[in-house]
Amino acid sequence: MSASSPTPTASKVLSLNNIEVVYDYVSLAIKGVSLDVPQGGMVALLGANGAGKSTTLKAISGLLVAERGEVRRGEVQFHDRNIGTLSPQQRVQLGIAHVLEGRRVFEHLTPEENLIAASAIRSRADMARNKEMVYSYFPRLHERRSSAAGYLSGGEQQMLAIGRALMTQPKLLMLDEPSLGLAPFLVAEIFQIISRINREEGLSVLLVEQNAVAALEIVSHGYLIESGRVVMHDTAEALKSNPDSGVLSRRRKGKEFPRHQALQPAETLADLITTSE
Ligand SMILES: Nc1ncnc2c1ncn2[C@@H]1O[C@H](COP(=O)(O)OP(=O)(O)O)[C@@H](O)[C@H]1O
Ligand SMILES: [Mg+2]
Repeated sequence: MSASSPTPTASKVLSLNNIEVVYDYVSLAIKGVSLDVPQGGMVALLGANGAGKSTTLKAISGLLVAERGEVRRGEVQFHDRNIGTLSPQQRVQLGIAHVLEGRRVFEHLTPEENLIAASAIRSRADMARNKEMVYSYFPRLHERRSSAAGYLSGGEQQMLAIGRALMTQPKLLMLDEPSLGLAPFLVAEIFQIISRINREEGLSVLLVEQNAVAALEIVSHGYLIESGRVVMHDTAEALKSNPDSGVLSRRRKGKEFPRHQALQPAETLADLITTSE
């Protein structure tokens, strides 16, 4: 008999296996979420305000501890390794970058200084190379590199927050609602850049969004989360075009929604997707 070949599973960067998250020991925010991000893939986690999207990202980056949150059950696996006991810093070193909601940057520092501060754990040569890479994807940051970040526009601050994450040379980039509060043309611009980085750098992306319509334009798969549970998981194409099952059946015919409207509680992907017709 020939030696058995390894099981041909598509390689995954990230795997959440039925995780539960509690805050303050009692408050169950995530009630069994499973989710995969394939190597080099781009996946969206969609849901209304309060559904559990940010909590899920914090479970992955380890930032839950700062908010008295805890993964009570299930596993967070990064490259098939259970990382549940690692500190947030150790997870950054493994290659997990988490761009927080609200585009946090050091407002008194320039973009250049922000990028340098984000790469403290890298060598000078790495830092210079990464900085060039960030500026090549975000030329506007290069133009504004010497003005205080607090004076940048919302879109430029979001670009800088993403640039800071890229300075850590991540393998997985997690973005928490990058479109929030930005004009549609800027959302489109930033999403196209994220898409390019994914393709050209092979960087895997987990994109958290309420703006399902914009997110489904650039990801291959999407998960819809409601009240701490994944209620739907499919390809982006199927999510865009198949409103027949589950929550999508609550489609409201004939109702117009602005193209970039965020998901509201109890609204569905289909409510939004009808806008693209
Ligand atoms: N630090 C916290 N302490 C207690 N409960 C929290 C905390 N952060 C979030 N929650 C609760 O967890 C649930 C999910 O919140 P969150 O993950 O922020 O949702 P989303 O990012 O989808 O808007 C909500 O009910 C929210 O009130
Ligand atoms: Mg959130």
